[in-house]
Amino acid sequence: MSFDIAARFPDAAWLKSMADKLDEKMQFAVSKAQETDYIPYSAENGQWKKTAIGWWTNGFWPAAMWQMYRATGRETYREEAVRAEGMLDAALKDFKNLSHDVGFMWLIHSGVRYQMERNPDSFDRTLFAAHMLASRFNPNGFIRAWNDNGKENRAGWAIVDCMMNLPLLYWASWATGDPRFRLMAQAHADTTMRTFVRPDGSCNHIVIFDPVTGEAVETIGGQGYENGSSWSRGQAWALYGFVLSYLHTGKQEYLDTAKRVAHYFISQITDDFIPRCDFRQPEKPEIKDNAAGNIAACGLLELCQAVPEAEAKFYFDAAVRILKAQEEKCADWSQATPAVFTRCTSAYHDLAGRHIAMQYADYYFIEAVCKLRGEKMLFWYPHRKNA
Ligand code: GLY
Repeated sequence: MSFDIAARFPDAAWLKSMADKLDEKMQFAVSKAQETDYIPYSAENGQWKKTAIGWWTNGFWPAAMWQMYRATGRETYREEAVRAEGMLDAALKDFKNLSHDVGFMWLIHSGVRYQMERNPDSFDRTLFAAHMLASRFNPNGFIRAWNDNGKENRAGWAIVDCMMNLPLLYWASWATGDPRFRLMAQAHADTTMRTFVRPDGSCNHIVIFDPVTGEAVETIGGQGYENGSSWSRGQAWALYGFVLSYLHTGKQEYLDTAKRVAHYFISQITDDFIPRCDFRQPEKPEIKDNAAGNIAACGLLELCQAVPEAEAKFYFDAAVRILKAQEEKCADWSQATPAVFTRCTSAYHDLAGRHIAMQYADYYFIEAVCKLRGEKMLFWYPHRKNA
């Protein structure tokens, strides 16, 4: 019997108020999205900002819609999820421009829809995305993250974020009965454990491998402050990603790695429980990232259910403190903007991307609130038994 996060949550009134506020705000957010022909990512001047179809975050909006639909039964949310899923077909068609982010882009809505409705088109989309991810596997044991950008040959580039895309490969092995997908996922997770996660539980964002020999030749700071620093969203991707690989495989090393990353993450946020963009950035300016906080909170809510009962409360309490602090200090429930969280940061050195809305911060907050209210389907593992 695992730690029951819904029964243990200490503040039912807060949770009920979050559910009500999310429903009101998301209905407004949907009405603003329906004025456009794109999928929400960031917001500006009270509107969703135009974002190209194919941007790596495109799956979070329909996933948020499915979470809200399952929580409220409101048909508007289902219709909006299906509308976005259809818009995303243009990205599937343009498959040569896809990156490793196809798990974010399809599993958490098409995979979820297939689980709920057995819709064959959603199955095909999810499986096609999994094939695209599998095609990025380098037999030296890592998944190539990005395509070349005209300056660099990126055949050997892997990034920590990819841990969150591995559930798509685990899903594909379940869907087809073919173990190759999950073996690729495990090989990548093993490489990430060995080459990204440092002894203190912090992580590199980018590791460059020799694509022919597989030797790790260089690390770079990526979206964090500098090489050797600690980009908080990368730490959150690792934390949640290793918990998910543990849930999909039962491999103890993944759970131990998730715990190590979680201990480091928690040790770095105790000032106000709102993560800095990089845990090793200079003291000033104070750059925060709400997305890192909400992702980590979701990972911690899964972690506390995966460890023995005696260990669970530590992770659970950290998740609750992060969610409450972020909501209290950063959430915008007004109709001045369609987004809830507006202190997100795309990358430390992207000056225009500091303290902006990034819709996936809202997605993870919704996921956390739904989990705490008893949602049993884990969108990163939609086919799990007893969901
Ligand atoms: N590279 C994905 C992210 O910004 O977290």
